[in-house]
Amino acid sequence: MSVIQVHDKKFETFLSEDVIQKRIAELAIEIARDYTDKKPLFIAILNGSFMFAADLFKHLQIEAEICFIKLASYKGMKSSGKVVTSIGLEEDLFGKDVIILEDIVDTGKTLHHFLPKLEHQQPRSLKIATLLHKPAATKFPLTLDYIGFSIPEKFVVGYGLDYDGLGRNIKEIYQLSS
Ligand code: IMP
Ligand code: MG
Repeated sequence: MSVIQVHDKKFETFLSEDVIQKRIAELAIEIARDYTDKKPLFIAILNGSFMFAADLFKHLQIEAEICFIKLASYKGMKSSGKVVTSIGLEEDLFGKDVIILEDIVDTGKTLHHFLPKLEHQQPRSLKIATLLHKPAATKFPLTLDYIGFSIPEKFVVGYGLDYDGLGRNIKEIYQLSS
């Protein structure tokens, strides 16, 4: 086990690069099977999902589009409770098969508040793919269609996820040491 320090906190190995990559390859196969000939539009939510989105998209063996939006509800280690959009969506979703890409669903607040905005544009279908899910923390009703890993309610960093801006460039996922 390896231990790293990010800001004032220690984190220990949780998901290895290999485990993450294998699971993403499986998700890409599953999604490709469900969306054959549909040319889905992926909407990746920045900043946290940039690595997941890039790796999933590389594995995807069907035609698909991708775009990026920025939402944030986090400050430090606790959900700030307020969902802020800072890069808006330019694509028209009408009639499209849309798949949201998230790094992690924690309380579910971010997506719960954002989904109606997307549904308003009348996409043909709207699904969610998240690399990580903390089921014990999720308080807002949400249907998660593709889940990479269900994990305990502990703060994690790495593979795009940050602790106050740092830790995103780590290839593995680390969990807060208790
Ligand atoms: P939610 O709205 O509470 O579901 O939080 C969603 C967002 O909070 C995610 O997209 C992440 O950016 C951030 N977040 C939640 N849990 C963690 C974590 O353990 N590490 C890093 N970021 C997290
Ligand atoms: Mg995020």
